[in-house]
Amino acid sequence: MAISNINVAIQFSPSILKLSEFLLMLIEIIPEYEISDDTHKLINQLLVESFPDYPLDRSYYKLLPQFRYLVWADNNLVAQVGIEHRVITNNGHPVRIFGVIDLCVALSYRSQKIATKLLQQIAELGNMGKIDFLVLFADDSRLYVENGYHKVTNICRWMKVDEHQIIGIGEESMADCMMVKKLGEKKWQDGIVDLLGYLF
Ligand SMILES: CC(C)(COP(=O)(O)OP(=O)(O)OC[C@H]1O[C@@H](n2cnc3c(N)ncnc32)[C@H](O)[C@@H]1OP(=O)(O)O)[C@@H](O)C(=O)NCCC(=O)NCCS
Repeated sequence: MAISNINVAIQFSPSILKLSEFLLMLIEIIPEYEISDDTHKLINQLLVESFPDYPLDRSYYKLLPQFRYLVWADNNLVAQVGIEHRVITNNGHPVRIFGVIDLCVALSYRSQKIATKLLQQIAELGNMGKIDFLVLFADDSRLYVENGYHKVTNICRWMKVDEHQIIGIGEESMADCMMVKKLGEKKWQDGIVDLLGYLF
């Protein structure tokens, strides 16, 4: 992976994360369409290492995110997260969200607050971009509770996608895994959440 790729990041400059005296990391924000084939392979390796049953042949589970955060150390990809920028409806009201997708950190780099730093940067970007809420779906809530997310009990409606085919509309409570972090002034409401797209 050539470091020069990092220079093509969108208008947000890459930031340096200093984890210790000896370990510097580069956090890159990159639109999906600018990611090279080589980097997609590295992302796939990281996803497969991090999530059991991740597809072996691609760097997304269902559909492409709009952009990603990539974290590099010595030209190695050590963390990634995809971001879905979307309008959804919360109890009938349109709200702007960043969906946080497939956040993962390479095994040997875990527990050094890399994911925490990424979540902080996503919140900063969301604030700058007038995003109302950050939304994610997680079986294990610990990291996210630590970072200001809380579980919500809304019934969700979404477009079901399986292997690049729309297979219907889902509608059920996501109370066991849906988490939200408020960024703007809007209050999260009870009632149906229409995801206006696939469940990321
Ligand atoms: C979850 C994950 C991204 C955390 O990355 P990280 O850089 O180690 O996170 P941080 O150092 O900022 O915080 C670590 C804390 O996150 C929590 N945590 C650990 N694994 C977690 C998981 N799978 N989901 C949620 N929280 C988790 C723990 O409280 C942990 O504290 P500890 O190090 O004292 O045990 C990383 O463990 C990972 O990639 N796991 C595999 C993929 C995954 O499950 N991703 C989450 C998808 S929703």
